[in-house]
Amino acid sequence: MIPFTKPEYDDSLTRFLVDYLTNEPALPPVTGPVVHMYERVVGSTLYRSGRQQVQLFTIMPNTEIPMHAHPDVDSYEVYLGGDIHFRIEGGSKTVTEIGAMIRLFPDTQHGATIGQRGGLLLSVQEWRAGVDLSSIGESWTFHDPCHVHKSFEAGAH
Ligand SMILES: [Fe+2]
Repeated sequence: MIPFTKPEYDDSLTRFLVDYLTNEPALPPVTGPVVHMYERVVGSTLYRSGRQQVQLFTIMPNTEIPMHAHPDVDSYEVYLGGDIHFRIEGGSKTVTEIGAMIRLFPDTQHGATIGQRGGLLLSVQEWRAGVDLSSIGESWTFHDPCHVHKSFEAGAH
């Protein structure tokens, strides 16, 4: 079991989160990719059922993830390890405890700076009805469109 503090919300995503972190069921999709590769990030789909999904994100050391949102996905991002500093709509937070989490509603702008140890995040998701599930990285809008062509590598822009 992954230790966590029950979030303040009471909705279907939160109930799924609590069940997943308690029981950690493994149910990767049986069709389509289970691994998505991005420049400095690997997303592994550990669980998918209906509109609910869990992906493990493995982020290379010293990576800058620019501000963006996932318009089709409501999610909790659960810290598992490494150096992760989140930015969320004007605020920022460094997470260091296993099970610490942030709620990202669809359209919540967020980004992160990943330090020397790299980062491991569990993304517990509920997708918008009518949308085919994929990697959360495929439901992605940038806050600043000019970021699209910039490298994710910290210090490269
Ligand atoms: Fe994101």
